[in-house]
Amino acid sequence: MSEQVIVTHRDAVCEVRLNRPEKRNALTLDMYRALTEAIAAAEADDEVRAVLLSGEGACFTAGNDLKDFLTGAPLSDPAHPTGRFVRAVAAMSKVLVAAVHGPTVGIGVTLLLHCDLVVAAQRSTRLITPFVQLGLVPEAASTLLLPALMGHRRAAELLLLGEPLDASAAKACGLVNRVIDDEGVMEEARTLARAVACQPREAVRATKRLLRHGRTHDVAGRMEEELLEFADRLKSEEFAAAAQAFFTRR
Ligand code: COA
Repeated sequence: MSEQVIVTHRDAVCEVRLNRPEKRNALTLDMYRALTEAIAAAEADDEVRAVLLSGEGACFTAGNDLKDFLTGAPLSDPAHPTGRFVRAVAAMSKVLVAAVHGPTVGIGVTLLLHCDLVVAAQRSTRLITPFVQLGLVPEAASTLLLPALMGHRRAAELLLLGEPLDASAAKACGLVNRVIDDEGVMEEARTLARAVACQPREAVRATKRLLRHGRTHDVAGRMEEELLEFADRLKSEEFAAAAQAFFTRR
């Protein structure tokens, strides 16, 4: 298990905590691999009824590690750790809960579209999707799921302008279930995860499957389309300039 992705178990809930606080839990290829492994293990473990994602330190996650974007196989490669992770999340049969706080960027936000329950910290949460500002395109089927959730116009503010959403705005547009004091976010997420873990197992599984029924094919197709475009965008001068600007901003 990676030290940057900590997996623990309590009360039929598998807790997966991002643990790279010094880099704001920016996700490296190794972290994607560890996350995908953790999901596979949770899926295979009959004792696990729900998975709870959270982040250590100042935020849930600052999204993809901007340095790691250009390393390893092309993003469009089916074996790429990022693609494998988003496919695994979208296909999960167990209930997925997230506890979100602080600036939560990029895939930290699009991931929430695949969660069943999301709790956000009132004071610190800022959901930011700066894909276009980085010369990139959104991923994880967010170009399909975000407009379906909140309408084209609101989704365009997020995806084209990269305008941040605070916790209350995120709740208003259906991206989070509950907004809680920062100090209480983890406990509330645990309470929700435990509550769902106590429900009849097969009924939960069937309901989750039915909730996604009819969109699974479209989601899978859109993910692949986005990943191809994303891989192209990573080669662009727009991305090179934006990434350089981030690392030299001081
Ligand atoms: N990739 C790589 N490194 C990152 C990172 C990322 N996505 N996000 C943060 N870091 C690193 C910073 O480079 C910095 O490293 P350093 O201490 O070696 O200089 C460290 O994490 C702390 O970041 P900092 O920006 O000082 O923290 P902050 O609390 O002031 O701001 C964020 C937090 C998340 C708002 C800010 O870090 C940010 O905007 N990150 C980039 C997010 C992004 O564009 N993600 C990709 C989306 S596709």
